[in-house]
Amino acid sequence: MLKKQNIDWDSLEFGVYPTRSMWKSTSNSSGDWDNGKLIPYGNIEISPASGVLNYGQGIFEGMKAHHSSKDRAVLFRPNMNAKRISRSCKRLCMPAIPEDYFMNAILEVARDNIDFIPPYNKGGLYIRPVVWGTAPTLGVAPASEYTFMIYTAPVGPYFKDGIKPLNLIASQSYHRVAPKGIGNAKAIGNYSSTLLPVKEAKAAGFDEVLYLRADNEELVEEVGSANIFMLKGDQLVTPRLTGSILDGVTRDSVLKLAKDRLGLEIKEHDLLLEDLFTADEVFCTGTAVVITPVGCITYDKKSYKINPNSELPLINIANILSLKDKNKLAIKYYEKAKRINPNNQHIDENIIVCNVRLKNFEWVEKKILNLQNEEKISHELILSYSYLLLNRKEFEKGFKYFDARLKSDEFFNVELTINESMERMLLPISVGRTILSLTTRAAPRPVPGPIIKAVSLNDSPGTI
Ligand code: COI
Repeated sequence: MLKKQNIDWDSLEFGVYPTRSMWKSTSNSSGDWDNGKLIPYGNIEISPASGVLNYGQGIFEGMKAHHSSKDRAVLFRPNMNAKRISRSCKRLCMPAIPEDYFMNAILEVARDNIDFIPPYNKGGLYIRPVVWGTAPTLGVAPASEYTFMIYTAPVGPYFKDGIKPLNLIASQSYHRVAPKGIGNAKAIGNYSSTLLPVKEAKAAGFDEVLYLRADNEELVEEVGSANIFMLKGDQLVTPRLTGSILDGVTRDSVLKLAKDRLGLEIKEHDLLLEDLFTADEVFCTGTAVVITPVGCITYDKKSYKINPNSELPLINIANILSLKDKNKLAIKYYEKAKRINPNNQHIDENIIVCNVRLKNFEWVEKKILNLQNEEKISHELILSYSYLLLNRKEFEKGFKYFDARLKSDEFFNVELTINESMERMLLPISVGRTILSLTTRAAPRPVPGPIIKAVSLNDSPGTI
């Protein structure tokens, strides 16, 4: 069993939390990094004339360590961050960080703070590498020395209400970055420029800002703290990487998984704002936000609910859980939804989900079996799983039930189990505003040729 700090894991938010140690290394004027070492977590000294304080010469990364279902500590695709940090460094005129060097530093910090990794399913240990110009520079010029630090914090959900559909405003007053600027680098300045827009948006009752492209305001760019996706039918669309969009690790993972595992058609191209208004789903992806659905987008004083009809059968789920004849009620909602919107292809899926919520697993099993015979299984099955995962209590009961079935292998012919390193990955397979995502499960054995690599902290030599 992995040891744990005495922390109230259920109340974790996305915030700073002092841990045991942090990594520090410095580079000299030739751009060579010293050996670096762990130091106790705490404040540091910095010159008031440092490049970072005066000219914003700084970049950062964001990644997470998780406690896996197999009681292991794993990092999610750290190699992607290892590559991206050097791209960001180069754009900000700072010395690159060799990938091995980066990985070693990350592992040192993660191992030393392993007891701050929240228990399975309770969040993650956010790992924040930062690189900045340390040396004093009064004239506008690259600093002659740099610092590379990594600190960590156990975190819960990024948005204060957890994973609930976001209410976004598409900004007509601000752009996030300029074309040919530093939008595709994880530069600190890209985030300071969003502080005022987000503050104003929150004061007006929105959760976040959706930025439009500076060179064409009909197109969407990203959400500042996250990338944006749209699902319409079987097409999953996200803005192409124009140079002003951050190439998110979660963005990349969702694209790969949606194509390989869900069979969706993937499109990275220009995304019209107005297309979002009629989408089946819109959601944001990022290390911090994970995968968060978007429920409503306001633009030019008009609000557009995303796929509002899809939640019809689920409207009063919370109120009906205590009723006796649960299946009848689920059917009633199903029929009502069908009447109102006969062409809504998601209603079948919603009825499954409805029954999962009502813990009517036999019904779901039968339905899935029928669907399987009709060869339309995967979407529905995954949907029912996604619902199981939404509510921990239901999840535990439902998961045990389905898990036994999955293990027996005779019932489902759908490959849901994938490389263990992806076990914490959330998939976008929701419908509308209510259904969220799937946590993929661990494979019984590692699958060769994974698209996603994880590093097992406690399997490596020298771990606790
Ligand atoms: C992340 O998702 O890790 C980010 O870097 C976004 C951050 C601004 C919270």
